[in-house]
Amino acid sequence: MKSVVVLISGNGTNLQAILDACDTSIKDGKVTAVFSNKATAYGLERAKKAGADAVFIDPKAFDTRDAFDRSLMEQIDEHTPDLIVLAGYMRILSGEFVRHYLGRMINIHPSLLPKYPGLNTYQRAIHAGDEEHGTSVHFVTEQLDGGPVIMQARIPILDEDTVESLTKKVQEKEHIIYPLVVQWFVENRLEMKEGKAFLDGEPLGMNGFIKR
Ligand code: GAR
Repeated sequence: MKSVVVLISGNGTNLQAILDACDTSIKDGKVTAVFSNKATAYGLERAKKAGADAVFIDPKAFDTRDAFDRSLMEQIDEHTPDLIVLAGYMRILSGEFVRHYLGRMINIHPSLLPKYPGLNTYQRAIHAGDEEHGTSVHFVTEQLDGGPVIMQARIPILDEDTVESLTKKVQEKEHIIYPLVVQWFVENRLEMKEGKAFLDGEPLGMNGFIKR
């Protein structure tokens, strides 16, 4: 059984989608622990309900980002993780942390990367008059939201769309594609080599596998 550790900062709807998939489609994976940098993150409750360790680590207890990340790393490694899943984890990671999990850490970001790394992606897409928006799952590298894309899902932006309506539609897609990527990883179908994502030994293009 592969050990999956999930990092969150909030509601944890993506975490929930992955927990649910571990009961159905992800046969050989189990969420062993969930870590949050926010005490009130509802995802911690979801983790407890699913029987995973639920751990809050207070960033205020550490002098530096490196010290926080080192402690997080030590606690994560107690679960001998095969995969680290960032699911709405809203903290910049130190280089040491990223290098330690290189090739076995993935993130989901609400934009069609390489468009709109960083924050406020919905506002930026609407403001730019884009015809579509979406979400990307990618391997985490030291470049913020810049690692190789594994899968994207796209949705059209309609005239009447708002940040709220787009968020809802994008998150519905996230709950489909993120568990699928976790499943591929657990089944050893996915890897990062020479800065590229490979599925079943074939390199994925810059947009990854596009789920319509
Ligand atoms: C997700 O929509 C995810 O794409 C986004 O946070 C949300 C978390 O929702 N992540 C980022 O913005 C990372 N840059 P959730 O806690 O309900 O899964």
